[in-house]
Amino acid sequence: MKMNRELVMIPGPTPVTEPIRNEMERETAAFKDPNFIEDFQQVISDLKNLWGSSEVFVVAGSGTLSMEMAISNTLKKSDPVLVISHGFFGDRMAELCERKGLEVDVLSCEWGKAVPVEEVEKKLSNKNYRAVTVTHVDTSTGTKAPLEELGKLLDKHQDTLFIVDGVCSTAGEPEFINEMGIDILLTASQKAFGVPPGLAIVWASDKALKRREKIGEISEYYADFNKWLPIMNDPSKYFGTPPVNLIWALKKSLEFIKTEGLKERFKRHQVRGKAIQKALEGIGLNILAEEGARASTISNALYPEGIDDTFRKVLKEEGVVVAGGLGPYADKLFRLGHMGNIDINELVTVISSIERTLFRLDYPVEFGKGVNIFLDNIMRN
Ligand SMILES: Cc1ncc(COP(=O)(O)O)c(C=O)c1O
Repeated sequence: MKMNRELVMIPGPTPVTEPIRNEMERETAAFKDPNFIEDFQQVISDLKNLWGSSEVFVVAGSGTLSMEMAISNTLKKSDPVLVISHGFFGDRMAELCERKGLEVDVLSCEWGKAVPVEEVEKKLSNKNYRAVTVTHVDTSTGTKAPLEELGKLLDKHQDTLFIVDGVCSTAGEPEFINEMGIDILLTASQKAFGVPPGLAIVWASDKALKRREKIGEISEYYADFNKWLPIMNDPSKYFGTPPVNLIWALKKSLEFIKTEGLKERFKRHQVRGKAIQKALEGIGLNILAEEGARASTISNALYPEGIDDTFRKVLKEEGVVVAGGLGPYADKLFRLGHMGNIDINELVTVISSIERTLFRLDYPVEFGKGVNIFLDNIMRN
C-alpha cells in the first residue's frame, strides 16, 4: 500500500496545477472554432508581449524540436557556430549543429562550472561566428549561464546571432529578449510554465527573421519558420494541426503569469531556489553547480559518501520522485526541479522527505534542520 501521495519533482514535466489540468480535460474543439482561434491568438500575443519579441512560434513538439527550429532556420551548411556547453543539453546542441553540417566550435568546462565570458570573447575575436548558442540552465548540471553578460558581449558582434536554450529556464529565470539582445529563445511547455509536455515554443527577433529570409529554402518542412509564420500571424490559417488542449493549458498558465507578474515570478524562483539550496547544504548535501552559477529552477545535489542512487528509490517510497544524474554524474547525484507552479507546502514536503530518506539510509540527520533553513530563508526574504 502506498503511504504517501506521490509528488513528481523531476526537472520537467513539473507538477501541473488543477486549473491548468482542467484545460486538458476539456472537450477538444475544432481548430477552426472561432473561440479557439481567439484563444490561440491570445497565447501568441501574451508570449510576444511578456518576453518582448517580434515573433513567436508555438507548435506541437518537445524542446528538442525547438532546438532544431532555432538552428535550421538561421544557419546553413558550413556556417561557423560557437556552442557554449555546460553539460548534456549543451552537448546535444553541438551534436545537432554537427548533424546540420555546420562548422562547430564547442566551449565547455568542468560540469558545475560556467564558461568564463572572457573565453567566449576570445573566441569571438578570432572568428566570425554566424551564431553563438548557450543553454541558459543546463538541466544535467543545474548551471546557469551569465546571459546578461553574454548578451552585452554579443551586442558588439552584430552579425552573430545569440541563440538561447531556455527549456529549463524560461518563465523561471530572467530572460528579456530585447534588453539582453537575444535573437532566438527556445523552450518547451513542461518545465517553468507548468504545462504538460508537448509544446515547442520559439521566439525570434527581427534579426533572426532576416537571417531566415537570407538563407533561402531549407530542407526541413515541419520545422520551417516560413511554414508557420502565416499561422502565428493569423491562427485561423492551417499548416499543422494545433494541439488544442495544450494551447488552452498554456493560455491558463499565461493568465497566472500575468497575474503574478513576470518579474515577481523570477524573484519567487530566485528566493525559493536559494532557500532550497541552503536547506540541502544544511542537511549535508553539496550542490554540483558552483556558487554564482546556480540555477533557481533546479538543484543537482551530490550524494554524500556512503549514499548511492538507492536514495531515489527510498525517496519515492517517502512520496517524492526526483531525477537521477546524467553522464559522468549517473548514480552520483539527484536532480530536483523546483520551477513553475510548485507551492511552499510541496517544497516543505520535499525537504522533509529528503531528511526521512537520508535517515533511513543511516545518514546522520537532525530532523527539521533543512525545513527550518528553508522556511527561515523564505519567510525572511
Ligand atoms: C536545457 C534543455 N534543453 C533541451 C531539452 C530537450 O527538451 P525535450 O526533452 O522537451 O525535447 C531539455 C530537456 O530536459 C533541457 O533540459
